[in-house]
Amino acid sequence: MSKQKLELTWIGKENQPVLEPRILIEDPDKSYGDNSADNMLIFGDNLLALKALEQDFAGKIKCIYIDPPYNTGAAFAYYDDGVEQSLWLSLMRDRLLYLHNLLNKEGIIFCSIDASELFYLGALFDEIFGRTNRIEVIAWKKSYGGGAKSKYFVNQHEFILCYAKELSCAPLLFLPADKSATKYYKYKDDKFETRGPYRLQPLATTSMDDRPNLRYPIIIENGIEIWPDKQWQWSKERVSEALKNDEIVISQKQEKYIVSYKQYLKNEDGDERLSKPKSVIEGAYTQHGTYESIRLFGLKNKFSFPKPESLIWQLIECCTISGDWILDSFIGSGTTAAVAHKMGRRWIGIELGEHCHTHCLPRLKQVVDGTDQGGISKAVNWKGGAGFKYYYLAPSLLKQDTHGNWIIDDCYNPDMLAAAMAKHEGFRYDPDTESYWKQGRSTEKDFIFTTTQFVTLELLDKLHEEMKQDESLLICCKSFSKSCEGRFSNIDVKKIPNMLLGRCEFGREDYSLNIINMPVDQESLKPNDMTDGTDHLFPSEATLPEKRTRRKKKSDNNQLTLFDT
Ligand SMILES: C[S@@+](CC[C@H](N)C(=O)[O-])C[C@H]1O[C@@H](n2cnc3c(N)ncnc32)[C@H](O)[C@@H]1O
Repeated sequence: MSKQKLELTWIGKENQPVLEPRILIEDPDKSYGDNSADNMLIFGDNLLALKALEQDFAGKIKCIYIDPPYNTGAAFAYYDDGVEQSLWLSLMRDRLLYLHNLLNKEGIIFCSIDASELFYLGALFDEIFGRTNRIEVIAWKKSYGGGAKSKYFVNQHEFILCYAKELSCAPLLFLPADKSATKYYKYKDDKFETRGPYRLQPLATTSMDDRPNLRYPIIIENGIEIWPDKQWQWSKERVSEALKNDEIVISQKQEKYIVSYKQYLKNEDGDERLSKPKSVIEGAYTQHGTYESIRLFGLKNKFSFPKPESLIWQLIECCTISGDWILDSFIGSGTTAAVAHKMGRRWIGIELGEHCHTHCLPRLKQVVDGTDQGGISKAVNWKGGAGFKYYYLAPSLLKQDTHGNWIIDDCYNPDMLAAAMAKHEGFRYDPDTESYWKQGRSTEKDFIFTTTQFVTLELLDKLHEEMKQDESLLICCKSFSKSCEGRFSNIDVKKIPNMLLGRCEFGREDYSLNIINMPVDQESLKPNDMTDGTDHLFPSEATLPEKRTRRKKKSDNNQLTLFDT
């Protein structure tokens, strides 16, 4: 029998596109704020955009959050995600492969999904990220009401898959202290000044793990031995140290001794104890995201079902620090970028729909100006600052003329062509200010030069004269004299487009899920969402960051099809 492996299969799984490495072009009129800021808003299909980012960002992204179309068949206001399941899996697989490559080895990826594709998407993630790197399948309680029309269950939750790139390198995940637990810290001792109040926690554990070294007697006065029913949580050495430091409390209830340890609110440095993120996220609801969107764009133009900022805050906060790179390749109305920006992280957001301009751009400008005071702004004390650059994908480098011959697209000027060729050939485009032919480099001594001129023997000899003996050069040109071939061992001359043909797919602009502009659903804001007496404009305190910094270092009705597949 042939060797078999357990894997998910679907129609067309074997077809993987070979993508053209496109260059990204900045539109300075749309970039905003401090122009030294690294943040990137990219307009275009995310598969091509992820490929475009690969050269500079492979292994650099610390946290990825994606909220792809769920393939529920439901038509939302700004996209239609009713794609046939095999196609949806292929589209997701292609993107996840690039996301995996972009993630840092200490990085974490989160992916929102609902029950309709949870099992298939989970199997896909297991295949790409590795089952052993699965950290959690988070249940996100997305709503607190509804259900009047539901036939069976009132569905109130979605899922967020959480995987590490490499579990052994992943950071421990922490959120700031859980304020709702502070009330349990009622006792004081002489360490109060630095360690704050404490609470008592049982030292004995009911864990069934067989750990013989955790089963020993604690001996108190008169030589009385106290044994745990199963075992203690701490080793003998740690307990004797804690006894010496007056951090163990022994009480007696009838005949039985109870051994507790003091759990202080603060650690030895006086910092409050952090809490671990919970596998069930409550208190940050879809309704909050909707109200945040209404606040930004008005009821008529609100984005349908954006994620609430406090939800994204929790995901970013638990695994990154200031300055880390955050990526969302389905940025929608820009929530992840807005949150990452307010948290001092660097971000990349990609969006294919026109709402990149109608929603993301104005929202992120308000964030930069500090005039967006919704979402997490107040909690993180956001006053504005930094900036972002707006990019779009260059068109395909090659196109076919009327005779079916591949030619360079005429919108490529010499600089664009040089940048594109450098990218195709794996060189970093970085034109030298002194030597015009050093347009990019792959190493300190290996250069690329792209020219639209006919390369003559004289030009080649001149270049060779200027080169140092240990330097090498790749010349990409439209045509060259036959006598240039093999003239110098350290100079390679190649013809565009021939040198590129067959390497990847040219002329294909769209690898997308079908995006459709639908009429905005004015009814989605049901009155019963607002009538339970609480102020649902804001998430509950427990899900918002506290005002402090932690861990220093670091429409139309025409259903216009924008991007047909
Ligand atoms: C569920 S929405 C994301 C909402 C977002 N989390 C928010 O809070 O606003 C998914 C987004 O992915 C975008 N999208 C779908 N296919 C895409 C593609 N191929 N490239 C880029 N964006 C895409 C859709 O246009 C839509 O805006």
